[in-house]
Amino acid sequence: MSRRGLFIVFEGLDRCGKTSQCEQLVNFLKQSGQKAIMKRYPDRTTTIGQTINNYLQGKQNLSDQAIHLIFSANRWEQQEELKKILEEGTNIVCDRYCYSGAVYTSAKGYDMEWCKNPDKGLIKPDIVLYLHAPKEVISKRSGFGGEVYEKEEFQQKVREAFDKLLQNEDNVVFIDASGTKEEVFELINQHIKKALEDITSKDQKISHLWV
Ligand code: TMP
Repeated sequence: MSRRGLFIVFEGLDRCGKTSQCEQLVNFLKQSGQKAIMKRYPDRTTTIGQTINNYLQGKQNLSDQAIHLIFSANRWEQQEELKKILEEGTNIVCDRYCYSGAVYTSAKGYDMEWCKNPDKGLIKPDIVLYLHAPKEVISKRSGFGGEVYEKEEFQQKVREAFDKLLQNEDNVVFIDASGTKEEVFELINQHIKKALEDITSKDQKISHLWV
C-alpha cells in the first residue's frame, strides 16, 4: 500500500551529533529503497534565512522577540512544500524544528508558552529523536564555532529547557547520544523501523502542532 512520507525530526544541543545522524539516516532510507530528503532549520538559503544567518554570525542585531518570530517564519514559509513532499511519499529527515525554536528563546528567560505560540499549527513530526548526552561527553567533542548561542553557560540553559519541554511531548523519544556514531545510529534505527510500521498501519492524516 502506498503511504505518505514520515516526518522525522532530530533535536538536541549544538555538537550532539544531529547532523551526521540525519545524513546517515537519509542514506540508510535511500539504500532500503525509500524516498528520503534532508531538511534543516534554520534554512539559511531563503531571504528570511539570510537574516537568521546574519543574526547568528553577529552581523545583524535584532531583539529577542524579533529573531524568535523570524525563526518561526522560516518554518512557515516552507510548510506547503513539506506537505507536498510528505504526500508524495517522500520521508523528510529534519535537523532541528520548532522545538529548538521554543527552547533557545525560553533559555533567554522568556515564557515557554509565549515561545511556542508562533509555531502553533505547524506540521507535527511523526517522531522526534532527541539526542542527549552528559555535558562532559559533549565538551570532549570538537569545539564550538563562533555563533551567538555557542557558549557553555547558555547551552546549559538550553539543555534544561529541552529536557523540560520534550518530556511532555507525545512524539518524542530520548536517545542516549554518548556512544559511537554506529551505536547511536542503531538506537535510532530501532525507533525508525517501528515508526515506519506504524505509519503504514494507521490513519495517514498529517497532524498539526500544539493546537
Ligand atoms: P544550526 O547550528 O543547527 O544551524 O542552528 C543554528 C542555531 O540556531 C543553533 O544554535 C540553534 C538556534 N535555533 C534557534 O535559536 N531557533 C530556532 O528556531 C532554530 C531552528 C535554531
